[in-house]
Amino acid sequence: MAHDLFEAAKAAMAKAYAPYSKFPVGAALRTEDGRVFAGANVEVASYPEGWCAETTALGHYIMGGGGRITEIAVIAKRMAKCSPCGGCRQRLAEFCRPETKVYLCDNGGVVETVTMGDMLPYGFQGDTLK
Ligand code: THU
Repeated sequence: MAHDLFEAAKAAMAKAYAPYSKFPVGAALRTEDGRVFAGANVEVASYPEGWCAETTALGHYIMGGGGRITEIAVIAKRMAKCSPCGGCRQRLAEFCRPETKVYLCDNGGVVETVTMGDMLPYGFQGDTLK
């Protein structure tokens, strides 16, 4: 099951718009009912206005109806085991549980599996804001 999510992330990476960093990234996530949403990074000439692959995938996920995320795969063409940046960890955590799996990949497949809890042990919790 992890490999198909890797393939979805890799296919998304091929659509990255990263002319400035030349660092294409792809991400794919799966919901508990089996839907898959993917995304690539999008850069902008005003550099801080660009955004990450994980954020694109989350936008698709929300527009596709949301739900609980159970697995996430991330791949970067030029870096094995690229892991989500700090901001994306917080964004992903909004819709995940600590046990949600995160597959870190190279160009051939999944090379390490971690959890959201591993990646963001003290993330800000929004419960009290509701
Ligand atoms: N990038 C991602 O898409 N996801 C990450 O988790 C790390 C960084 C992108 C942002 C930027 O377009 C490029 O990689 C270089 O930082």
